[in-house]
Amino acid sequence: MSNPRLQEIITKSLKKRENLQNSDTNLIRLIDGGGDALRGSILESYGEGWMISSSGSGLNPDLRDLLSAYGKPLYWKRLDQHQKESPVHVSGPEMPEFFTGKENGLQCRLSFQSGYSQGIFIDQRDNRAALRAMIKPGQSVLNTFAYTGFFSIAAAAAGAITSTLDLSQVYLDWARNNFRLNDMDPEDHYFCKGDTFHWLRRFAKQGRKFDVIILDPPTFSRDDKGKVFRVEKDYGTLFKLAASCLEPGGKILACTNFRGMSLREFMAQLKEADLKAVEMPEDFTDAPYLKSVWARF
Ligand SMILES: C[S@@+](CC[C@H](N)C(=O)[O-])C[C@H]1O[C@@H](n2cnc3c(N)ncnc32)[C@H](O)[C@@H]1O
Repeated sequence: MSNPRLQEIITKSLKKRENLQNSDTNLIRLIDGGGDALRGSILESYGEGWMISSSGSGLNPDLRDLLSAYGKPLYWKRLDQHQKESPVHVSGPEMPEFFTGKENGLQCRLSFQSGYSQGIFIDQRDNRAALRAMIKPGQSVLNTFAYTGFFSIAAAAAGAITSTLDLSQVYLDWARNNFRLNDMDPEDHYFCKGDTFHWLRRFAKQGRKFDVIILDPPTFSRDDKGKVFRVEKDYGTLFKLAASCLEPGGKILACTNFRGMSLREFMAQLKEADLKAVEMPEDFTDAPYLKSVWARF
């Protein structure tokens, strides 16, 4: 099974990211497809575990054998936009149902058995760090489309009062767990279950304002009443609505991972604010897909 070229790619990719992995951070993209000369395959570290994702119906046997030789718990999932299956165990020790990873010293609850996503989107690491750095104690942060709430954790670590908003009760409970994991009391924070548009309208009506709002919606979603959200059509409305819930001088982090829209087209939807686009983290070496813009009012 010797494949020196493939071994060289793996060694080089791991070496390149050596300085990113440390006792504070073990949530890293280790191989980023074409960006590391391995088109179609992505290797990520989640705490103690490794996840290899690839397109096609199975894992390349050479890649499987070479990665297995590192002795880590290795899981595989198929990269597929439409068929989102849970990862399968490939080799090494099996991970418990729930385990933890670390990002800049903050703990995150993870799972390889809870569906297609593992509990954190690691491509948002630098944005969370930027949020944490800009927060002053007592400021308010609204984290919409929050998933497991890790933007809220980053903000709360800097002393923010956070509101974590998601359609899914499962993810809101997961977010509460993330607070506890970091010795923070979820009771000191707010959790809102339901559709982002619905809550933003409600906040606007009540005159409730935030210092920072995080907008990182999926490309397509359907709310609890069946109403559809599409990034290319609806982002401008979402942004405007969020802006109406901002304190004077407040900021919005507007993100999308929709590949069908350029950064320019995305920014054109973000009206009446000073905009600053930021790049993806350095371990994401393939074509950048996540567009992130800090909007200041
Ligand atoms: C793309 S992820 C968001 C990623 C998250 N911002 C992060 O960085 O971890 C999608 C999340 O949005 C939630 N969601 C989808 N549609 C929603 C809606 N209309 N209102 C609120 N949450 C929604 C899903 O339940 C899921 O947790």
